[in-house]
Amino acid sequence: MRPFSINPTSCLKGEISLLGDKSIAHRSVIISAIAQGKTTIKNFPANKDCIYTLKAFQRLGIRIKQDLKASTITVFGKGLYGLKRSSSPIFVGDSGTTLRLILGVLAGQHFKVKLIAGRSLSQRPMSRVATPLRMMGAKINSKLKTQNSKLEEYPPITISGGQLKSATFRMSVASAQVKSAILFAGLYAKGLTTVIEQIKTRDHTERMLKLFKADIKLKQNNIVIRGGKELVSPGEINLPGDISSASFFIVLASILPNSEILIKNVNLNPARVGIIKVLKRMGADIKIQKLKNQNYEPMGDLVVKSSILKGTVIREDEVPSLIDELPILMVAASCSRGSSAFEGISELRVKETDRIKSMSENLKKMGARVKVYKDKNKVKMVINGAEKLFGSRVRSFRDHRTAMSMVVAGLTASTQGSIDDITCMNKSFPGFLRQLKGLIS
Ligand code: S3P
Repeated sequence: MRPFSINPTSCLKGEISLLGDKSIAHRSVIISAIAQGKTTIKNFPANKDCIYTLKAFQRLGIRIKQDLKASTITVFGKGLYGLKRSSSPIFVGDSGTTLRLILGVLAGQHFKVKLIAGRSLSQRPMSRVATPLRMMGAKINSKLKTQNSKLEEYPPITISGGQLKSATFRMSVASAQVKSAILFAGLYAKGLTTVIEQIKTRDHTERMLKLFKADIKLKQNNIVIRGGKELVSPGEINLPGDISSASFFIVLASILPNSEILIKNVNLNPARVGIIKVLKRMGADIKIQKLKNQNYEPMGDLVVKSSILKGTVIREDEVPSLIDELPILMVAASCSRGSSAFEGISELRVKETDRIKSMSENLKKMGARVKVYKDKNKVKMVINGAEKLFGSRVRSFRDHRTAMSMVVAGLTASTQGSIDDITCMNKSFPGFLRQLKGLIS
């Protein structure tokens, strides 16, 4: 593959609207499939990861009508016990959300399934989800490897579900994927399943389960779900635009002088708006308009204008609210005045690639001063902003968020640069370059 050249640009202007949030889209397919009745999902993003979730449920016997040109799909739900055993293994690509969330549903089924992952997901840890599901009664076999002198589990995974027992889990990692898998299993367990979060993570699963009339109660950081109750489709769901995709445009418009953009219908779930809070603290000019508290997720329009950014500290307790936006925030920090610290970011080591390595290596090549500190299990990154980055030959590490962040960095640079392979962007945002071009005059 030929490297993709990036020519610096002067400003960003115009208006865009984004396809549905990837996290919410996964959940919409999963929950619709195990609910009773048909659900039409609008603004569905046909990115690679969401398609893997959709295909997985087709393999499990769910009819899904797709009109991907219109970004609409219809899922014909069959109720909690309507899934069919898949005769051959299900391939979930590199979609961690598909794999971890589906395990929660499969834990409650009375059949055995094997799930196979792609190259990068096969290197990502699964004990965090396998352990609680085993405690609830699922039988799970996976590939075992010793990592940092600890035994860890990896795909492929074989799961045999059955009658589950409820339990209470105090989360040791702040992970919405693990929490969601437990809550899905909780739908099948006898009695009450409780998840206690030390730091709140995105609550899309809880919100959507409520929309589908699950017996779920939320009290501060405790989530309690009662099993055995069938879910009922609301008929139609409109997915709010993806704030993680929006973040690339928000940062770029903030950095480039004379920019002004409008991003319509963005998901503004309080557990996801960390990027907006932090950028505002850095001096960004971001205004929210037309905030609507849609029946299950809030959304609104964002107006972003150029600004002079200054460094900040991103605290560990803020990390879950911007976990996927850390790479683009590292770009923002590299283009801002003064120094920024990113605290408690060790989870970045186990994303599609090690994003601490990918981002520090790339940003250093472009002139930013980046240091990574390790203290016991905690990792902190400090970035001293450069006046202006310069173009360089950087790498995506086959990670979509590293790739898009580095395109943004390249557009703000003083000279031309390139990136080795950008096809990975299709994982979450196939329309990224097209929408970006529309904003570059
Ligand atoms: C996701 C949760 C986060 C996030 C991922 C999507 C989700 O992962 O990084 O991109 O949809 O629940 P973790 O749960 O591993 O933090």
